[in-house]
Amino acid sequence: MLWKSWIALVAALLQPGKSAASAVFQDPDTGLTFTSDFILYKADGRGITYRIAIPDNAQNYVPYDAVVQLVVPNDVGWAGLAWGGSMPRNPLLVAWKNNNDVIISPRWANGHVSPQPYSGSEYTIIKGGTKSNSTHWQVTALCKGCTAWTVPDTGAQRWVLPGGSNRLAMAYSPNKPSNAASPTSSISIHEVHSYWTHDFARAKNPNFEATVQRLIA
Ligand code: HEM
Ligand SMILES: *[C@@H]1O[C@H](CO)[C@@H](O)[C@H](O)[C@H]1NC(C)=O
Repeated sequence: MLWKSWIALVAALLQPGKSAASAVFQDPDTGLTFTSDFILYKADGRGITYRIAIPDNAQNYVPYDAVVQLVVPNDVGWAGLAWGGSMPRNPLLVAWKNNNDVIISPRWANGHVSPQPYSGSEYTIIKGGTKSNSTHWQVTALCKGCTAWTVPDTGAQRWVLPGGSNRLAMAYSPNKPSNAASPTSSISIHEVHSYWTHDFARAKNPNFEATVQRLIA
């Protein structure tokens, strides 16, 4: 059925901007099942991989923990993830490499201005899924407080729904934060931002809590 693959490929190529569905990734380092999307930040093919793993008992409109994994080329200064799919008024993750460590800084912005440290979400780095080599660094972390939040002023509740797909957003800067040892360092504006639809339904893991507890112990 080769011709069918060709038709699919041509159809995909005719829809620039439409990304393929998230891939399922079985992580040998953590044992978790992630859904994975590769997001370009340079026309030459460089991109950041964003992966999500969630509990199989997560329910829509109820907060749940999530594990996030980023695979980042070494030329990236900081990489961002917006859980609500746009910059303002949702939990932001900003990650960068500092010597042999990776720093994850939870942030929040009420507009298109420099995001400030945010106490509503908390990341715990999973050492077994955090490493680097001559081309990339990778970080894996548990997040509490990334899948539900309250919009200031209106008080509206927002959720990342575990039962389907959610629009996420990313941002890329070539510049390291000025005080890279500090999670609260100021950061420079991104050079690129992008959106994609991330599949959460296939990111579900049985025994998520037990596995994560073992990984962070
Ligand atoms: C110093 C830090 C930052 C500054 C000064 C900044 C500023 C801005 C500005 C001015 C825009 C509007 C650009 C336009 O309209 O073309 C924008 C858009 C955007 N920014 Fe940031 N940003 C910062 C950090 C971040 C971070 C950490 C993220 C995390 C993912 C992010 C995600 C986005 C996204 C997705 C957009 C597109 C518009 C939207 O969906 O809201 N930004 N930013
Ligand atoms: C370097 O590390 C990244 C992230 O863990 C991995 O995806 C990549 O395959 C590694 N490259 C080599 C040559 O080992």
